[in-house]
Amino acid sequence: ISKRNGINMNNLNFLNIYDNENQDERKDVLKGLNNKKQKKINSKYFYDDKGSKLFDKITRLNEYYPTKTEISILETQKKIINEYLPSAASIIEFGSGSNKKIKKFLNALKNPIEYLPIDISEKFLFENAKDFAKIFPKIKVTAICADFHQVDQLREIVSKKKKKIGFFPGSTIGNFMPEKARKLLENFSYILGNNNYLVIGVDLRKNKKIMENAYNDSEGVTAKFNINVLERLNIEHDAFFNLKEFEHNDFFNKKENRIEMHLVSKIRQSVDIHNRKIDFQKGETIHTENSYKYSKEEFSLLSEEAGFKVKKVLTDDKNFFGVFFLKVKVKKEEIK
Ligand code: SAH
Ligand code: AVI
Repeated sequence: ISKRNGINMNNLNFLNIYDNENQDERKDVLKGLNNKKQKKINSKYFYDDKGSKLFDKITRLNEYYPTKTEISILETQKKIINEYLPSAASIIEFGSGSNKKIKKFLNALKNPIEYLPIDISEKFLFENAKDFAKIFPKIKVTAICADFHQVDQLREIVSKKKKKIGFFPGSTIGNFMPEKARKLLENFSYILGNNNYLVIGVDLRKNKKIMENAYNDSEGVTAKFNINVLERLNIEHDAFFNLKEFEHNDFFNKKENRIEMHLVSKIRQSVDIHNRKIDFQKGETIHTENSYKYSKEEFSLLSEEAGFKVKKVLTDDKNFFGVFFLKVKVKKEEIK
């Protein structure tokens, strides 16, 4: 029974196993900002509570087609989802964010018994899990605050579940360079175990303007989301970024097949962080996010390389977004 925040629901449990001490984050942030070739900040740092709320706002924007398209696929193709996936399964969601998509997904499944959302954004995760548990009182909910790279701990937690369906919507996989994405998929196959399923949402390549507008909306919400990472560094990492001296920029990098988000320094400046100075030339950028856009064939190949068999790919009429049904197929000698 969970008593966090004074709630008392017998279908809800919380676990916090996030083990990345501030010390590691500090090293990571400094390393990225000291990179001589291109200053960088890992996009996972977007998601403090304010960042998660801003992302949720992005998902409701006209220009941000991925969320709307993926939800429409989950809603209109329920029958196929039901046909391809096992009944009475435990659903493990990686990078769960808001509970909008899981509600649609569960509606398509036969008798799901358990839901385990995993996210690094603690408060947002717990609030959404609480809300979900209220709406689905018959489903056992275990919210896990963790980095989804904590492979061994996560495998241990889910190892006793019988039938498992991993759910990784939103094209979060696109935020990793292809080699890292392949490794992450391999990790998920290890966490889930042989013959279990992973349902994963992937943004597909399309007209450049449509993709670029999705990351530079007219209301400026994406710009706020991008700038918020500097505010987070100011609050949590003893940094002194003047938020007014940086601006949002995005573009499609055709060679790499990815949208890139950057923060551009409007002036020549020097910023203190952890008592060190980071120098910026006017116009110099911090690369804050990649969002890779795949073709169906490319993503299928990547999944197969990571130890999955592609069972089905659902798309929308315009082929904007793909929902891939993957089955873990680990060769006998590779099962640890
Ligand atoms: N799945 C949701 C949210 C996508 S936003 C959707 O489809 O709309 C990406 C989510 O992944 C955020 O909630 C963020 O907090 C989480 N996330 C990002 N990196 C993570 C990591 N390394 N480990 C766990 N969660 C992560
Ligand atoms: C979470 N992730 C898949 C989003 C994306 O589209 O890459 C994050 C985002 N960045 C800007 N807008 C949305």
